[in-house]
Amino acid sequence: MRNKIVAGNWKMNLDHQQGVSLFSEIVNMVKDEVIGHQQVVICSPFIHLHSIAQLAKGTPGVAVGAQNIYFEEAGAYTGEISAAQVKSTGATHVILGHSERRAYFGEDDYVLSKKVDAALKHGLIPIFCIGETREERESGRYFEVINEQLKKGIFHLSNEAFENVVLAYEPVWAIGTGLTASPEQAQEVHAFIRNTLAEQYNQDLADGTTILYGGSCNPKNAPDLFSQPDIDGGLIGGASLKSRDFVDIVKVFN
Ligand code: G3H
Repeated sequence: MRNKIVAGNWKMNLDHQQGVSLFSEIVNMVKDEVIGHQQVVICSPFIHLHSIAQLAKGTPGVAVGAQNIYFEEAGAYTGEISAAQVKSTGATHVILGHSERRAYFGEDDYVLSKKVDAALKHGLIPIFCIGETREERESGRYFEVINEQLKKGIFHLSNEAFENVVLAYEPVWAIGTGLTASPEQAQEVHAFIRNTLAEQYNQDLADGTTILYGGSCNPKNAPDLFSQPDIDGGLIGGASLKSRDFVDIVKVFN
């Protein structure tokens, strides 16, 4: 049985105090709700990681992640943060390949593949994001785009390494727009991703991989999305900044 995950991506929001206080609220509200194969992962800006990882200690099923790393080990890379540095805060996950990093910071598949390797080397679980733009969807090329992103960004991994990866399908046209993929549209792509994993690796690995949906997910649309057979939870942006909304999404699995 694969893990069900609701991950929050706070993006570049909240000062240190605000982040600690939102995280404390979330932990208090979810501590009795996260059961069995379920996990809650909050991906915060670097400044919060150590403090919130401390607060997460002792709450089973609640973890903390970063939103990026640099692939080098250490050295003269002003402004960058390594996988080992993130790991030392107590964080366990890292979002890689988010469409905002691809679009605004020029991160290509090659750079992302090196970031994936650095994360795994230091014991961080990559939440690897893939998804098509509006033009790519409208032209009907979305399967091709997703296949390429998987092939170039993450299919260099061995079977064993891939078992520590979480995938997130985030159609770019649905991020922060209020336009959600319909449960059928999302399921179609999730099933495609799982089949592609089975072809590249094997059916067991495909069946064991958690694939999240992201893009204007909220407490209203989450139940229909999460009830699809190949959707194993969500990567939540805007709604993760409101404790009530985020916790309502977590509770969809209860
Ligand atoms: O990482 C999260 C996604 O970019 C979704 O963001 O829920 O604000 O659309 P959103």
